[in-house]
Amino acid sequence: MQGRNWGRVTAALLAGAVVFLRGGPASADNRWGADYFPNVPLVTQDGATVRLYDDLLKGKSVAINVIYTSCKDECPLETARLAQLQRLLGERMGKEIFFYSITIDPKRDTPKVLKAYAEKYGVGPGWLFLTGKEEDIRLATKKLGLSRVRDSVSKDGHSASLMVGNEPAGLWMRNSAVDNPQFLATTIGNFLGWKDTAPRKSYAEARPLVLDKGEYFFQSQCSVCHSVGQGDKMGPDLAGVTARRDRSWLVRYITAPDKMLAEGDPIAVALFEKYQYARMPNLRLSSDEVAAVLSYVEGRDAARGR
Ligand code: HEC
Repeated sequence: MQGRNWGRVTAALLAGAVVFLRGGPASADNRWGADYFPNVPLVTQDGATVRLYDDLLKGKSVAINVIYTSCKDECPLETARLAQLQRLLGERMGKEIFFYSITIDPKRDTPKVLKAYAEKYGVGPGWLFLTGKEEDIRLATKKLGLSRVRDSVSKDGHSASLMVGNEPAGLWMRNSAVDNPQFLATTIGNFLGWKDTAPRKSYAEARPLVLDKGEYFFQSQCSVCHSVGQGDKMGPDLAGVTARRDRSWLVRYITAPDKMLAEGDPIAVALFEKYQYARMPNLRLSSDEVAAVLSYVEGRDAARGR
C-alpha cells in the first residue's frame, strides 16, 4: 500500500476502529482464515443452510452485525441505517460486498420470521439474515468479535457494532452500525480499497453544501424511518403531522418517545401498536434541534401546498 492509498486506509482506520480479531496485527499468512473461523452451519431467511466460513466468509468482503427481531430499541435504527447503506452501495451489494445480520435469538427468529423482517426493511440481494443452533451462533459471533449479551445492549448505540472484513486480506474493522450511512459507505469503500467511490464529489452534487439545520437533522436522524409526503417507511409519513398533532405533544414525543410510551400516552401507544417492527427512538435531541426539525417538516408541508 503506497502513497494516496495509504492515506485513504489510514483515514479508514481512524474513522472506525480497526480490530484484530484475537490480538496482534494481520500477517501475510492470514491468521483469520479457515483455521480461525468455525465452519458452523447457519440458515438463511430463505431456509438454505450455509457454512460460516466456506459459504459466507471465504474470499469475500463482508459487513456483519447481530440483531434480534423482537428488539425494539436499537436494532430497528441499526437495520434501517444498514438498509440505507445497502442502497448507497448499490450494484456492489452481493458482488463486492455481502451483508450478514445474525440473530442472537434463534428460538424466536426462525427463517420465516427473519424473512418477514428483511422484507419489511426492503432488504435486497447480497444481504442474508441468519439463524441457526444457539451454540453455533454463540461461537460464530464470538469469533467475529460480535458477542453481545442481550441485556447489555446499551441504548446509546455503542454496542451496535458492524464488523467489516476483507477475508482474503485478513483485515477487519469495527464500525458502529448506527453511524450515518453515507459516512459508513465512504469508510467501507476506503477500507476495502474501492477505487471509484469518490464520495465527496457525489455528495456535493447530490445536495447543497449548506443544509438548513432542520433539514440536516431530518436527513441524518429521521429520514431512515420517515419521509415527508413519500409514504410510510419504518415509521409513519410525517406529512401534515404538525397540523394533525398538538405542538407541545410533538415536542415532547420527539424529545422522549420512550418516556411517553412508558407513561401510557394514548397516541404514543396507538402508534406503537400500529408500527410493529420499529420503535421511535429517543435520539437525545436538544430542544433547539427538535424545533429545527419540526420547522423543517412544516416547511416541507408548506412547499407541498398543504
Ligand atoms: C428507527 C426508526 C425511526 C427514526 C430514526 C425516527 N423515527 Fe419517528 N417514528 C418511528 C416509528 C416506528 C414511529 C411510530 C411509533 C412507534 O412505533 O414507536 C414514529 C413516530 C413518529 C412521530 C409520530 C407520528 C404521528 O403520526 O403522530 C413523529 C412526529 C416522529 N416519529 C418524528 C421523528 C423525527 C422528527 C425523527 C428524527 C429526529 C424521527 N421520528 C426518527 C420510527 C423512527
